[in-house]
Amino acid sequence: MARIYALANQKGGVGKTTTAVSLCAYLAARGKRVLLVDMDPQANATSSLGIDKNELENSVYDVLISSSTVDAVLVVTSQRGLDLLPSAPALAGADIELIELTGRENKLANALRPLHAQYDFIVIDTPPSLGLLTINALVASDGVVIPVQCEYLPLEGLAQLLQTIEMVHRSLNPQLRIRGVLMTMYDPRTRIAREVVQDVRRQFPRNTFRTIIPRSVKLSEAPSYGEPIGSYAPDSSGAQAYDAFGQEFLATEWQ
Ligand SMILES: Nc1ncnc2c1ncn2[C@@H]1O[C@H](COP(=O)(O)OP(=O)(O)O)[C@@H](O)[C@H]1O
Ligand SMILES: [Mg+2]
Repeated sequence: MARIYALANQKGGVGKTTTAVSLCAYLAARGKRVLLVDMDPQANATSSLGIDKNELENSVYDVLISSSTVDAVLVVTSQRGLDLLPSAPALAGADIELIELTGRENKLANALRPLHAQYDFIVIDTPPSLGLLTINALVASDGVVIPVQCEYLPLEGLAQLLQTIEMVHRSLNPQLRIRGVLMTMYDPRTRIAREVVQDVRRQFPRNTFRTIIPRSVKLSEAPSYGEPIGSYAPDSSGAQAYDAFGQEFLATEWQ
């Protein structure tokens, strides 16, 4: 039975996609059966895995809007054990088109249900907004991983995300819990980075991941080569940090 996690934070550029791709690759390399769902119209997770969004016939858009079966849309990736439900630019319209549909918040959850037995983990990357695409991801998930960039004091922006998670928990998906906050892009030379770490640990004493992801040039290069960090630059500080995160993620997995 698959465990389902969404990466969410309505702020862009905080490491959602990097974390989704790196975590999925880590889990797949350890023999887990993993599905990555790309719910961002920008399709960064899709292209980070070396898949050209312009060459895809179908995407998660078709699953949400035209009720295509997921099987028709799934693609295998170059990472053994990792499949992808790709995004495409058409998904940009889905936030609006979904409004008209009944059960608009449950489209992704329903579409993923037939896949629960095929995967150990389903990881959903979300766009930088709290619209219906992100709501669909939260409704489909057991837990949320919240990446926070160690470059801005995040707490104000997080309040809105926490409210949304609480609303989904209350009225749409009582399963949903916060899996953990992951601090990313840490630069030990800056004061702000140390302040963010303190602040986050104070606000989330029980669910801040111990692992902190440092700023790493290799992490910013990997998407252009269509490879996860673990294969693009396995010895880099970024790869080591995401290995440590993957280990911590598995070790603290909910029973
Ligand atoms: N730890 C890191 N160090 C350096 N660059 C990073 C790191 N994590 C992500 N990046 C880069 O920063 C940009 C934003 O990250 P991304 O994961 O796409 O964020 P989001 O999905 O939240 O918008 C991308 O270009 C990515 O390659
Ligand atoms: Mg992204």
